[in-house]
Amino acid sequence: MRVLSGVVILIMYYTNVSWAAYMPINSNNAFDKTMATYNVSKVLNSTTNSVDVAAYQAYGPPYYAIANLFVTGGNFVYYTFSVVYVFVKYWRPLKKAFVGMVVNTLQRRSIYTGFRDGHTRMMRGAYPEVPEWWYGLVFAFGFAISVAACVAWPTQTPWWSILAVTAVGAVLTIPWVVIESIAATGISLNVIWQVLPGIWFPGQPLPQLVLLMLGGAFEQMAGGFTTDLKYAHYAKLPPRAVFRGHVSACVVNCFLYCAILEVMLAYYNSDNTLCQWDNKEHMVCAYAQSVYASTILFGAFGTNNMFKLYPALPWLFLAGALLGLAWVAAETYLPRFKTAVLRARVFGAGLGDAARDARYAAFERRLWDPAARVLACLHPAIALSGALNWAGNTNLAYATLGIYLAWLFQFYLKRRYTAWWGKYAYMVFAGLTVGVAVSGLVVTLVFSFGAGKNANLAWWGNDVSTAGLDYQLYNNNASLVVSGRRRRRRGW
Ligand SMILES: *[C@@H]1O[C@H](CO)[C@@H](O)[C@H](O)[C@H]1NC(C)=O
Ligand SMILES: *[C@@H]1O[C@H](CO)[C@@H](O)[C@H](O)[C@H]1NC(C)=O
Repeated sequence: MRVLSGVVILIMYYTNVSWAAYMPINSNNAFDKTMATYNVSKVLNSTTNSVDVAAYQAYGPPYYAIANLFVTGGNFVYYTFSVVYVFVKYWRPLKKAFVGMVVNTLQRRSIYTGFRDGHTRMMRGAYPEVPEWWYGLVFAFGFAISVAACVAWPTQTPWWSILAVTAVGAVLTIPWVVIESIAATGISLNVIWQVLPGIWFPGQPLPQLVLLMLGGAFEQMAGGFTTDLKYAHYAKLPPRAVFRGHVSACVVNCFLYCAILEVMLAYYNSDNTLCQWDNKEHMVCAYAQSVYASTILFGAFGTNNMFKLYPALPWLFLAGALLGLAWVAAETYLPRFKTAVLRARVFGAGLGDAARDARYAAFERRLWDPAARVLACLHPAIALSGALNWAGNTNLAYATLGIYLAWLFQFYLKRRYTAWWGKYAYMVFAGLTVGVAVSGLVVTLVFSFGAGKNANLAWWGNDVSTAGLDYQLYNNNASLVVSGRRRRRRGW
């Protein structure tokens, strides 16, 4: 899906969909009408921090590069698709989870009530459970501090929007965790907090940013917590210890993140290029750039104006929902349709039993079974999320390494050396992850701060990622039309 969507993006770029050819193809920036990076200071009133309409009319709207537009639209499809798909397909477990949560809390029953699987039998009674009021306390603290922060600082964000963040999070966190546990890829709450604040507070980028961060944090915290609890359940760790560990890690992280920001400003911004494509230390801040661009486009420019500029976008929500319904319906009814209609009516019309069975068997063998085999290895949510990894300077090189490893472990080793795979695959996975962290530490300490600060290690592995046009494209105004490489296409 990643490759396929790349081809779609290329086609859209070369046919100049939505002025695409005037911008870099894979950038996650917002661009102005001269196709330079959008300078939001030019349209903001510096006292009120909201858009000055006269200044905006002089400067013009912001534009998305095509990969970013594709990913934004694709996220809309993915969003409604996965919500509908998960709610319809997993309605029973979801209902059980929601009802169990309320009933068990009200009646002060164990959270294991109604589960009889092996893991639960081993966990039940072995350790004291985390009482519900501990969670209540964490929630009350988070809620109070969010409201206080929004009200006490000039964020332009009214306190009731925290209620909205809570409500959306409460409804969508469990479906999110369902997809996450099946597919290791979630439903991004970012989408809803991209769109809604821009409808409520058009012309004001600040509430957009605040709500995007708070809404995303709700999802990450709740989802991360659930993931930890799940691992703890499988590994038979005491739930209270996991709770304490997670909460203290959050507290420590609050201070760490502020410290990291200070360190980045102190060490990587000496030439004032932090978060720009030509930063010497490659601190290009891909995610921060995406957030900045979406804050400009949805917040400052306003969601409704954004939808006027790109009229296909709102329809993609509908397309995703319909696709989700269609997919579940197909999963449920196609097998029945096959026997009831195809076997009985289409292949059987006017034929004897033997002739009908022969024709039907041939149809199954040639058409139905191969198609079913292909579809069976395609989880629609994973496939869709695979298509959405473009934009933000993450070209195909970011994915291909993963493909080699995935093929080696999940295909070759799993089939050929199943016992070895069963014993060591997860260890190797953990080892590689730790290896990345340790090498990141070493590289940062040695080459950013230590003896290797000015070392110049020129070899293919270091240079190849910045050698091509795809790196230069990032934020550098290298585009199909303006670059002069393809002047004959200027007819656009
Ligand atoms: C953005 O616009 C402001 C206000 O016009 C100006 O002071 C600033 O230099 C501009 N920044 C860039 C990067 O062009
Ligand atoms: C910003 O807005 C305030 C309040 O509406 C207004 O008094 C001021 O003139 C504006 N500043 C600029 C530079 O337009």
